[in-house]
Amino acid sequence: MAVLVGSARPGSLNRSLAKALTGLADAEFSFVFSRLDDLPLFDQDVLAAGFPPTVARFHGEIDAAHGVLIVTPEHNRSITAMLKNALDWLSRPAGANAWTGKPVAIAGASAGRLGTVAAQQHLRAILGYLDMPTMGQPEVYLSLTPGLISPEGEIADEGTKAFLQGYMQKFHRWIARHSDAGAPARA
Ligand code: FNR
Repeated sequence: MAVLVGSARPGSLNRSLAKALTGLADAEFSFVFSRLDDLPLFDQDVLAAGFPPTVARFHGEIDAAHGVLIVTPEHNRSITAMLKNALDWLSRPAGANAWTGKPVAIAGASAGRLGTVAAQQHLRAILGYLDMPTMGQPEVYLSLTPGLISPEGEIADEGTKAFLQGYMQKFHRWIARHSDAGAPARA
């Protein structure tokens, strides 16, 4: 599974949350944290000459993934520019959207009380357009109080841990439901 974290800073709360989530998943899941901070800014003319090397690497990671987990901060009531840039790159060239059909779950954390609600609403609109089956529930808008999740992803509170574990179990079922193997046979 590919994991996209919308923040590249070392102390990212959202990276801690992503590590916590991946640590709670069933053993059969494996995760690749995709690097987003070395992707150039999207440019349609650059794309016309072919994917730059870092974008080609990212494309390979998404092609290989059975599902995508996105954990993002909120920046000015939307997703971060870095995450949007990554989504834009693989949506092109026209007719070759790499995101199509990839099951996705989203989550976010902030130090404040709103916990990325507005960013996730924007993200849902984008993912719908990208044709990605997006898990609706449970929603994860985590207000991260100091010490709740360590930088390594250890969760201090049992209730939070159980909630996040349930989220990952649901995501596992969501992927199975939307994978090719789980899809009804086509006539
Ligand atoms: C923020 N932050 C923020 N928080 C929020 O709840 N709603 C918002 O709209 C914004 N806007 C915003 C814009 C910019 C440019 C910055 C730098 C920050 C605060 C943000 O949630 C906080 O910095 C998080 O800790 C960022 O996530 P990471 O980097 O810790 O994962």
